[in-house]
Parts: sequence; structure tokens; C-alpha cells
Amino acid sequence: MTQTAAKQQSANSANHKILFEPVSIAGLELKNRLAMAPMNTVFSENNLGYMNEQILAYYAARAKGGVGLIISECVLGTRMASRFPYTSNLHLFNSTHLSGLEELVETVHAFGSKIFIQLSIGFGRQGHSHDGEAPPAPSPIPYENDPTLLPKKLFEAVQKRPQLANPRIPMMAHAQQPREMTREEIKSEIEEFGHSAILAVMAGFDGLELHAPHGYLEHQFLSPRSNHRSDEYGGSLDNRMRFMVEVYDKVREMIGHAIPVGIRLSGDEHMPDGIHHEEMKIVVSRLGDMGIDYVHLSSGSYEALKHFFPERDGTMLEEAAGFKSVLPPEVPVMTPSVHDPAKAVAAIEAGQTDLISLGRQLLIDPEWPNKVRAGEKFRKCTRCCECLLRTAMGFPVRCLHNRDLGREKYMPEYWRPTRAKGVGVVPEIPPLPM
Ligand SMILES: Cc1cc2nc3c(=O)[nH]c(=O)nc-3n(C[C@H](O)[C@H](O)[C@H](O)COP(=O)(O)O)c2cc1C
Repeated sequence: MTQTAAKQQSANSANHKILFEPVSIAGLELKNRLAMAPMNTVFSENNLGYMNEQILAYYAARAKGGVGLIISECVLGTRMASRFPYTSNLHLFNSTHLSGLEELVETVHAFGSKIFIQLSIGFGRQGHSHDGEAPPAPSPIPYENDPTLLPKKLFEAVQKRPQLANPRIPMMAHAQQPREMTREEIKSEIEEFGHSAILAVMAGFDGLELHAPHGYLEHQFLSPRSNHRSDEYGGSLDNRMRFMVEVYDKVREMIGHAIPVGIRLSGDEHMPDGIHHEEMKIVVSRLGDMGIDYVHLSSGSYEALKHFFPERDGTMLEEAAGFKSVLPPEVPVMTPSVHDPAKAVAAIEAGQTDLISLGRQLLIDPEWPNKVRAGEKFRKCTRCCECLLRTAMGFPVRCLHNRDLGREKYMPEYWRPTRAKGVGVVPEIPPLPM
């Protein structure tokens, strides 16, 4: 390396210092302000929801890459939820799921990161059954697909495969007609989900993220676009919030403050008749009053994918700042889709967000944090969305520019060290309410 290049490298490294400051979520210290955003990998096979070597090695690679926190892919937290995914997700609703998830926690810890579980109470109308059964949702309103609301590169990728427009081809883009959930189902789903939260603590996760963005079940209840109910779960904002509030209350009742509990929410649905940012701020302010430990932002839904999968950096920062303005200062906000380290630094310095979560950028280059810290070059995500298109079609995630993605289990550097600290010891479970 020339002297000028070395100087530039060290200047880059100094400029990004704030990203590598420790940060605390409800007293849990993270070594830096960088998280891996939850991403369904479709590595779990057979729709049985169990762990495998590929999933472990994939997360090991991202932990080794230097993020302070990994948020797991969305894990389905009830039996009903597990019957209506589109692809294959991990499950957590009975004790047979524990061993694999505990192994995941141990692996990530061995590579130096903390790990939260993203736990989902269901996909609602965005779910699909594999036998034609109607997915349960707040109201019987299927989602719509408007190709103009796709990210441009995804739109182009879909155009290159005209067969995808054929509604007979099963894929996430083709909605199934949902049915309205009964009040009894709502109550029993919440009850079961609370028990799954206990299993998450038993598995050793450092925190739990409620999955409520992107037009999934909790979001569907919040949104006047997908919730036309006439009972106490529909109508006014208070009523539309009820499902989310009851889910949160149940989780706290079951696990108390054993581990931090946060929530992922879309800052704005970006659809006509959907739930917009001003109403979302009221929701977030209520969560702040109820003691939420952090808020992880996203945006849009399956109907507005270009907001969910932004085409450029920083599109969610205004909504993040909106959430921060209504939350107590000790409740951090986490924001995805800022891949440029200089922009990430600027967003934190401007007080728009406290942490940055990295999604696709860690698929192409899991070493982004280590490289940025060292002032080195990293491979930049092109936002081509092939990763998303594959998973939406039911295939395991891959990246056109990182051939190692999906092959980590064959790479010994991502195998958990056999003598990792604490391995083989019965996990210490933080105190739970009696
Ligand atoms: C293949 C793939 C799967 C995803 N699965 C999830 C998921 O399970 N839960 C979730 O909240 N977000 C999910 N996301 C969204 C990401 O967490 C993130 O918000 C989004 O990719 C935008 O950030 P990025 O530009 O850094 O990728 C997924 C994204 C991708 C690419």
C-alpha cells in the first residue's frame, strides 16, 4: 500500500468512529451501533422450522464480520402462523425447537455478537397455505400487487422472467384470499405467542423483537386498509392498536424484563387508506409509554415494496427521526438501508437514528463492519434485489455478487470453535415472572 493510500485508510477509519461506540438497549451493552437486519434465508427446509448447519454458519459469518447485534430472521411463534408462511421459516412454539435455536445463540456468541430473535405472530393476508386453506387475517381483504410500486431493479428482474406474471405460478407476489380471524382465535394466538416468548428466553436470546412491520399480521390490524373489523379490534386507532398492545402486554406478562423487548414497525405504509406516519407516531408514542425497549424501523409492505426495499440510502431516516421525536431518549431507534458508512455516521450524528441495521449489504459482504472500522474497501450492495426475488419464489437466499452466500457451511472459518466459552453448560435463564 502506498503512503497516501495508508493515510486515506486511517482517515476513513477515524471518520467512522461513532459507528463503533458501544450502545445500550435497556441496560444490555452492544459493542457497536451496527446490527444485522432480520432476513428470512429460506435455508430451513421442509417447512418444519428447524435449525441446520447452513443457518448456523451463515449467522457465524455475519457475527465474525463485526456487527454488535444480529437480529434473527423472522421466526414463526405460533402453530397457526407456521401453517401460513410463504416459504420455509424457522419456528419457535414448542420445546423441540429449543435445541437448534440455543445452538444458534451459542454460535453467534462464540463469534462475538449478541443476538435477538425476531418473533412473528403471523403473516395474516401475506401468508400462504400450501393446501389452499385461506390465511387468517383481520378482514377478508387480499393484498394487491402494483408493479409500479416495486423497486426499479426488482421490476426489471421480474420483467426478464415473464413467467412470474402467471398467477398459476406460486409465489409471494400472488395473494391468496384471506378469511377473518375470530375473536377466540385472536385471544388464543396471543396466549400461545406469550408462551413462545418464554421459549425465546430459555433458548438464550439476548433480546426479542416483535415482528409488526411490512403488512404482516400486527401491521394489518393497525392499518385501516386491511382492517375493516366492526368489533373492538377495528375502527378507531385505539381499536386497531389493540391487537399489538395485547401481544406486547402478554409478552411482558410472560417474560417481564428478563431480556429487552423491542418492536419492528413500518414508519409509513405508503398506500392509500393505509396507516400513515402521523398515526404511526401515535402508536410509537404509546409503545414508549408502555415501556418498549427499542424500535426498529422499516417502511411499506408487500404492496409498497419500493419503500420496504429502498433503491438508495437513507430513505427511512425522516420516519426514524419522527419516531425518535415521540420516544423517551433512552429508547433507541434502529434504521436499515444506510449502506454508505459516511451517511450512517451523518444520520447518527444528526440524531435521526441510534443504530444502523444492515440487510442486503451483509449478504454481499458480511465483513462490512470490520472493513469500515479498518478503513478498508468493502463490496457494495447493488440493490439488484435478486436475493429478495429468490426468497419470494421459495428458494434459499443467494447473492449474484457473493458466491459464498448459502455455502458458509462448507467454510471452516464459520464453524463454531469447539471450545467456545460456556459451550455445554446449562444456559443461565434470567429471572422470569412466576
Ligand atoms: C432476503 C430478505 C429477507 C428479509 N426478511 C426479513 C424478515 O424476516 N424480517 C424483517 O423484518 N425484514 C426482512 N427483510 C427486510 C430487511 O430486514 C431490511 O429492512 C431491508 O432489506 C432493507 O434494508 P437493506 O437495504 O439494508 O437491505 C428481508 C430482506 C431481504 C433482502
